[in-house]
Amino acid sequence: MTNQTAASRHATTDFAVLDVIRQRWSPRAFAEQPVPEPALQQVFEAAAWAPSAMNEQPWRYIYAHREDAAAFQQLFDCLLPGNQPWARHAPVLVLALTKTDFANGTPNAAALHDLGLANSHLILEATALGLHGHFMGGFDADKARQTFGLPADLQPVVMLALGYLGQAEQLQEPFLSREQAPRQRRPVASFAFAGQLPN
Ligand SMILES: Cc1cc2nc3c(=O)[nH]c(=O)nc-3n(C[C@H](O)[C@H](O)[C@H](O)COP(=O)(O)O)c2cc1C
Repeated sequence: MTNQTAASRHATTDFAVLDVIRQRWSPRAFAEQPVPEPALQQVFEAAAWAPSAMNEQPWRYIYAHREDAAAFQQLFDCLLPGNQPWARHAPVLVLALTKTDFANGTPNAAALHDLGLANSHLILEATALGLHGHFMGGFDADKARQTFGLPADLQPVVMLALGYLGQAEQLQEPFLSREQAPRQRRPVASFAFAGQLPN
């Protein structure tokens, strides 16, 4: 069996980056092993320490362990069919939301940005704990709104499957091929420019 704990999925970078950045990737095969609640709380603590506009901390998370069958099912049912076949085996599902207004009622233009920053903290802390996560935009936001009775200023943005790494061979196609496809990135010179954009 392919050992997905091998470094084969780690990023090959042109410049040295933090180990957790190199090691993070988005698997679809998760091990049965549950995620201890303290580890999950640690991961959310990392999110808490992300910077945010006016220190508003607009991120919110709704999560469920798979053992909490009813709560897990509610989150699972929000996923689109393209994600359900593999995400059903994740030990933890998370719905990430952002509060689109500041506490004073004015719109927070940075709400999505700041949730993204928090998610980045979260996933890198998870990586440091040996966990893997897979973000999913493929979910039904309206269903999430209804299921959780969300107020208008709370926007469901992305879901996350979280757990320990499984074996690629657990997956059926097309997910198996995606799990093993080469990881690619644009080179830094194609998106970071000194002084001004190129013509
Ligand atoms: C906002 C967002 C939405 C995503 N939606 C999905 C999704 O619905 N299904 C899926 O399989 N992967 C999804 N992904 C995972 C990306 O495809 C993945 O992060 C990207 O291909 C880079 O691979 P890596 O995370 O392994 O580096 C999403 C990632 C992000 C950040």
